[in-house]
Amino acid sequence: MAQLWGGRFTKETDQLVYNFNASISFDRRFYAQDIRGSIAHVMMLARQGILTDMEKEKIIAGLEGILTDVENGRLEITEQYEDIHSFVEATLIDRIGDPGKKLHTGRSRNDQVALDMKLYVRDEVHILDHLIEELLWAVLSIIEEHMDTYMPGFTHLQKAQPVTLAHHMGAYFEMFRRDHERLRDIYKRMNTCPLGSGALAGTTYPLDRDYTANLLGFAGPTMNSMDGVSDRDYLIELMSALSIMMMHLSRFAEEVIIWNSNEYQFVEIDDAYSTGSSIMPQKKNPDIAELVRGKTGRVYGALNALLVAMKGIPLAYNKDMQEDKEWAFDAIDTAKGCLALFTGMLRTMNFRKDRMEDSAKHGFTNATDAADYLVNHGVPFRDAHGIVGQLVLLCIEKGIALDELPLPEYQKISAVFEEDIYDAISMETCVNKRVTTGAPGREAMEEAAAVYRKYMNEYLKD
Ligand code: ARG
Repeated sequence: MAQLWGGRFTKETDQLVYNFNASISFDRRFYAQDIRGSIAHVMMLARQGILTDMEKEKIIAGLEGILTDVENGRLEITEQYEDIHSFVEATLIDRIGDPGKKLHTGRSRNDQVALDMKLYVRDEVHILDHLIEELLWAVLSIIEEHMDTYMPGFTHLQKAQPVTLAHHMGAYFEMFRRDHERLRDIYKRMNTCPLGSGALAGTTYPLDRDYTANLLGFAGPTMNSMDGVSDRDYLIELMSALSIMMMHLSRFAEEVIIWNSNEYQFVEIDDAYSTGSSIMPQKKNPDIAELVRGKTGRVYGALNALLVAMKGIPLAYNKDMQEDKEWAFDAIDTAKGCLALFTGMLRTMNFRKDRMEDSAKHGFTNATDAADYLVNHGVPFRDAHGIVGQLVLLCIEKGIALDELPLPEYQKISAVFEEDIYDAISMETCVNKRVTTGAPGREAMEEAAAVYRKYMNEYLKD
């Protein structure tokens, strides 16, 4: 047991209590952030005349040595320490002696852990941001390649009207773009530095909080020390943004699973992203998409756990808050994994243009357009709806598509039909006549793709 306190205790901590309380098993992952924060703190202490330059040099060299040794495996972070802060401080004191004991001047583990977690999460938000960007690129390239790949658009999972694969993918681009923007919003709001908040009420030392905030790349210090040590909103916002993003990925995964099924065969997942069955030799399963769908629950779970953990906590720091870490880490790791795998699966997936078009044609997705044809020839829409309904019934009986029905059959039901009906209900016409902003028609879709490309290029600038 190595802990930073004990002076006012007359008995040893019970081993079970120690184990229950300790956080080293999971907070060891932000050792680098803990050291980085300590270096900034020490630089500030020396600048304010609270430490001598000599002490500062010794402490910083000691901290840097610990960082290098942990990184190259020479120093192990063992469970004999209560938490990562104790590990770093105790190792420092072991290595450099007395100056090491001054590291914690004007600081509490409460503001220290708040800082470490923010530094860690800030780095993770950058990685997540980059992974969403990769996904957006993958979706954009499908959009640009498949402006003329016709497919059925669905409502109620029933074929509804023809769209294009580009248009369908465009819907996902919109979703992931919002996810991307949400991350950036969160980053802006979370980027304030809690260091210097002390245990809850600041300190009596003349700390320069602007200086440390600046050294650590924050926009500025947090403005209330009680909030500084007990705000976990940014984690809840992040879990919430990741939950929404996972919901989008999960919907997409569900579609990939359906599209990859034997019945649909709209796509074929690459061998590298499929798995086999131990008993059925013919199987090629979409496990990756299923896992993405399944893991979505873990991220929702993290959001819920944090909301519940925080709801009854009085100001300021309470130990309940230690629970934020495992949930947040798990949700972040899960989201990162899912993003990377899904993007890889998408990039290597084969889209079966023939199957998609055939499905659109044989699902009467052009029935609305046949009715519109009649309306354009003066037939009231309600009557046109009835006429096309009869035509659909006839085609179902014959087992053919609307464009395979001979003209005389059309004319038996309505004399308004002419030879040009076939052109009016071709997939190309049905899609390309839909030109309103946001519609699948080529013109509208090109406009949207240009907006998407601009978004990506502007994003890449920063
Ligand atoms: N392990 C603690 C956490 O994660 C660090 C802060 C401990 N502070 C304290 N007063 N016990 O929240």
